[in-house]
Amino acid sequence: MDEELCGEKKAELLEAALKARENAYAPYSRFQVGAALLADDGKIYTGCNVENASYGLAVCAERVAVFQAVLNGARSFRAMAVVAALDEPVPPCGACRQVLAEFAPEMPLFMGNLQGKISCLKVKDLLPYAFGPDKLMEDKG
Ligand code: THU
Repeated sequence: MDEELCGEKKAELLEAALKARENAYAPYSRFQVGAALLADDGKIYTGCNVENASYGLAVCAERVAVFQAVLNGARSFRAMAVVAALDEPVPPCGACRQVLAEFAPEMPLFMGNLQGKISCLKVKDLLPYAFGPDKLMEDKG
């Protein structure tokens, strides 16, 4: 964990993620997650997990936040916070790591729990050797 990565907006982002978590729709897993994404323009986009009776259609809080940001025209991001009610800070799932890496591999991710325990890692360190847009540009076929 590198405190240097963790900008001055850390507390605000974690608070926004906790608030977003209150809207989680998780009647099947009962595992509520909130996320908050700080865009380059200073705006914060939030997300909660949204589950479905067709279980496989659940979307994680992190991806909801990214899609919400992109919908609103944001493409560059400074930091994300994600929170859940665990003993340890919640790590994002593999699918979310891939979606975050598309836009912001250098971005610090604050992972927290409800007691305020926080870890911080860069997206690229959570998903080393990622398949990204650069690989498609490089296609030799
Ligand atoms: N979930 C998230 O929203 N983010 C994570 O980082 C881990 C998992 C959600 C998906 C599903 O609704 C529930 O948590 C249980 O997996």
